[in-house]
Amino acid sequence: MAKAPTKSKAERALTPVKRGRKLKQIKGYAVQSKRTPSRHLRKLETTPWQTLGPFYPYEFLIKPGENDMTRIAKGKPRAKGEVIDVVGRVLDEDGQPVRGCLIEAWQCNAAGRYLHAVDQSDVPLDPNFTGVGRVVTDEDGRYGFHTVKPAPYAVPGYDSWKRPRHIHFSLYAAGILDRLITQMYFPGERLNRQDFMYNALPDDKARRALTGKASKGSRGTTTYTFNMVLRGSQETPFFEV
Ligand SMILES: [Fe+2]
Repeated sequence: MAKAPTKSKAERALTPVKRGRKLKQIKGYAVQSKRTPSRHLRKLETTPWQTLGPFYPYEFLIKPGENDMTRIAKGKPRAKGEVIDVVGRVLDEDGQPVRGCLIEAWQCNAAGRYLHAVDQSDVPLDPNFTGVGRVVTDEDGRYGFHTVKPAPYAVPGYDSWKRPRHIHFSLYAAGILDRLITQMYFPGERLNRQDFMYNALPDDKARRALTGKASKGSRGTTTYTFNMVLRGSQETPFFEV
């Protein structure tokens, strides 16, 4: 019987990982399950906790335009790349809107580089793109970001792992004592099926939940709809770190 050809290291790294693989098994993405060290740090005590009280703000003051990542300031040139919109709603387990939810988003630029000291790749930065934005959901739980489509990027420390296009999100609102972290992926991307993070999600339902739905926007650009459900049977998969 003919022997199957041996796969190169690069080919093995590109083979889709086993479904359900735990994030903590992925080098560089350890899951933080313990928020307090088992021993007190020398001479330091943990700060005592106190309640939020009844007056925790329903809303945070965000300046208009903080959800526009396509320019670093009004009147400045636009960032390079395909302009897109990401819109959606934040919902509770009963499908009711979560208003006043602070959403922070961050991403790499259209060449695949983050404006971050840790990202030392030789891909160029875009001086007109900060890659960060904030917005607060309205009465209907709606939010929106105006940005450019991020590029895939090579993960440092891996030979062949290229992260597919994605945008990171952090959610924080009344009743959420520990912010929620997730990522939106783009539909139809070949790299999705080869990504350790995407494939670490428990099933296709979870993968669909983290994939934005594309439609044509009013300005001729593409709009991606990405709803986030905080809990319940339709809960959006959230990462621990
Ligand atoms: Fe990323």
